[in-house]
Amino acid sequence: MSAPFYPLGLRIEGRRVLVVGGGTVAQRRVPSLLDSGADVLLVSPHVTPALEGLATAGRLTWAARRYEESDLDGAWLVLAATSAPQVNAAISVAAEQRRIWCVRADDGSAGTAWTPAVGRHDGVTVAVLGGGDPRRAAAVRDGVVERLADGSLDSPRFRGLHKRSIPGVALVGAGPGDPELITVRGRRLLSRADVVVVDRLAPHLLLDELPAHVEVIDAAKIPYGRYMAQEAINTALIENALAGKFVVRLKGGDPFVFGRGGEELEACLAAGVPVEVVPGVTSAIAVPAAAGIPVTHRGVTHEFVVVSGHVAPDNPQSLVDWEALAKLRGTLVVLMGVERLAVIAETLIRHGKSADTPAAVIQEGTTSEQRSIVASLATIARAADEEGLSHPAIVVIGEVVAIGDRLNALVAALP
Ligand SMILES: C[S@@+](CC[C@H](N)C(=O)[O-])C[C@H]1O[C@@H](n2cnc3c(N)ncnc32)[C@H](O)[C@@H]1O
Repeated sequence: MSAPFYPLGLRIEGRRVLVVGGGTVAQRRVPSLLDSGADVLLVSPHVTPALEGLATAGRLTWAARRYEESDLDGAWLVLAATSAPQVNAAISVAAEQRRIWCVRADDGSAGTAWTPAVGRHDGVTVAVLGGGDPRRAAAVRDGVVERLADGSLDSPRFRGLHKRSIPGVALVGAGPGDPELITVRGRRLLSRADVVVVDRLAPHLLLDELPAHVEVIDAAKIPYGRYMAQEAINTALIENALAGKFVVRLKGGDPFVFGRGGEELEACLAAGVPVEVVPGVTSAIAVPAAAGIPVTHRGVTHEFVVVSGHVAPDNPQSLVDWEALAKLRGTLVVLMGVERLAVIAETLIRHGKSADTPAAVIQEGTTSEQRSIVASLATIARAADEEGLSHPAIVVIGEVVAIGDRLNALVAALP
């Protein structure tokens, strides 16, 4: 049995790394080399479009020819990733003679170095060597990174404990409902929260993962009217952050899509509280997708418009130009409109939208409670009513609904 590997973290910023071969192996390895600041020389007569794109963007130097031994001049590390084992072997021998570490993509044990399975979390790099078994290494890496991300494995900071290294408040978009649809960044910040101020539509299953010491403030239960409630939420964010706590404001979907994220950001900044905004997967796109409806489709629609239906079209307070929307050929996605669907549909038809336009209502999309119906614009309100569909729901109006029907039929026909 050979001796175990000696692991190292290399500082390769600005240092030459030679990559020979322009196929998918190089395509997989080059981005992390570039991410570490390496000066990459890629040698290959042909490369994948992604690698060519990096060369065109000036991120690496591409020599569009076969490998020559002089390519090793000045290199600190070489990745032999051609499809010809004899070429990789020759590179490896030449690199050894020059004392340059060489990773062989075709036969790891034949090179002088081996790339581990790498994952990163919040400044921690996890690098796993699987004793020659890359799948095992990747599985261990995934397990560790996942646990770091959900907070079940702690990564305490021992340097600079006295100062906070993260902002006072993070406005985190938690996605449309499925707890798996929060972003990696959002989940990471959630795992570090002292206080979580949570909306009704944010996935509450995420709260199960929080340690017992985390204070959870249910924003839906904050008393007073709508306006006062927002003020009380702002106050809760600001007071906790000024008390030195890290506050996560967990919001459904994306914080800036009908989420009053802008108001909360403004209030925190006015109080001198630093804020990080973490975008989320908005229900406007994700909920139709969960029902099989793509909001755009080539040759069908070149636009999709997201509007709020929380104010009826005939209400003078409405800021939506329903007449213009009726003339849209593309997709119309209405949030907060299911209760006013009859008047919305009637307004669109009155302004010229075809009564036959396919329409869908999807309630509690992406969750285990998801329900949806499809009808025509003329009949969708009654159909939703008969099915008892209500808030929270998304209305989709446009030909993409018919595309969704077709795609769903194909899925259903799969064995
Ligand atoms: C106040 S808006 C917040 C939107 C959110 N910021 C976003 O980006 O998804 C709430 C509306 O979003 C829609 N919505 C949010 N989550 C939903 C879900 N899981 N299923 C259906 N509609 C949803 C509904 O129209 C609901 O009335």
